[in-house]
Amino acid sequence: MSSGSLTTKNTYPMHIGMASYLPDSYLKMAAQDLHERVEEKRKSYGKDLVVLGHYYQRHDVIRHSDFQGDSLDLSAKAAASNAKHIVFCGVHFMAESAEILSRTDQTVYLPNLFAGCPMADMGDSFDVEHAWKEITSICHEKIIPITYMNSTAALKAFCGKHDGSVCTSSNAAPLFKFYYENIARKIFFFPDEHLGRNTALQMGLTEKELIVWDPTLELGGNTKEQIDQARMILWKGYCHVHTFFTPVHIKALKEKYPDALVVVHPECTRQVVEMADACGSTSFIKRFVEEAPVNSTIIVGTEINHAINLDIWNEDKKVIGLARSFCPNMYKINLQNLCWTLDHLETPDVHRITVPDSIKSNANKALQRMLEVKGKN
Ligand code: 13P
Ligand code: SF4
Repeated sequence: MSSGSLTTKNTYPMHIGMASYLPDSYLKMAAQDLHERVEEKRKSYGKDLVVLGHYYQRHDVIRHSDFQGDSLDLSAKAAASNAKHIVFCGVHFMAESAEILSRTDQTVYLPNLFAGCPMADMGDSFDVEHAWKEITSICHEKIIPITYMNSTAALKAFCGKHDGSVCTSSNAAPLFKFYYENIARKIFFFPDEHLGRNTALQMGLTEKELIVWDPTLELGGNTKEQIDQARMILWKGYCHVHTFFTPVHIKALKEKYPDALVVVHPECTRQVVEMADACGSTSFIKRFVEEAPVNSTIIVGTEINHAINLDIWNEDKKVIGLARSFCPNMYKINLQNLCWTLDHLETPDVHRITVPDSIKSNANKALQRMLEVKGKN
């Protein structure tokens, strides 16, 4: 049975009806049998298979991965891997980046091709190109486009074509710094307004130097003068999982656990970041918990499964989610579709990620530039 493959541009192409196909027999299988079958498959493929697991994957899934990491770690693992089959337990833009970075003799799979990212969909490449034309016709100086990893391959290709790059939450600061110091004093960043703002302010830029581009408004809702003077133009996109957190959540938990430490992801709003003890990528959050004093309580403001996994992995500490905010797309990967994908690695088109060659080479340029810039939060 074939599920069809997913090409780039839209995260949810409606013409592919089988992208999340799963036979009934897998749904009826007992959890223990599924765990055993997944492990048997991993063993039988040996070095020909690598399973990558993002930290937001539920424990039942991430426990079967060869490598766990944030989106930067996993793209680097995919780029360095010699495995014939790369199964990505994460969301579409992550698997798509792995496909772009992988060799032609390797195949990348996503156990449910409908595991997208609404934030990535907020940066439509036609809207961004339209904005780019307007911005570059107004600005008197060079401007560099940088896209967050959470974006389509088409947007990455756009950045590759215009001397720009990709960044993740773990290398946004060194990457912005590199571009500001060496290439241009102006950056157009998309699609996450909050990661852009939090990183820029942490680097010493002021609120006055940042403007927000709302693609539904004329000139993004700005005057020509504002566009010409801004050091960073932030696309008005966001992650609903992270903007769900508010200062009220922090206040309530701090009342209950006054000594607790608070660490949040930079996709959270500025107000939430300002109230936290620390802010960083999912791997930064993991390190923060590991390095916290024994017996401490740590409140984690990111996708709930990361907090749950960190609590399991750190028996000497108490890890609490800031609120029960979960990513329904990360959740689309489960033990059943992981097992089904592993059972069908040799079947053409089953849950495979493909990226058209016309997009691939420029997207690859932007990803390679990101991997070349050293430094990680
Ligand atoms: P990281 O790059 O920190 O792993 O984050 C990915 C993501 O999707 C956050 O919502
Ligand atoms: Fe996208 Fe937010 Fe889910 Fe991350 S947590 S994959 S940004 S929707």
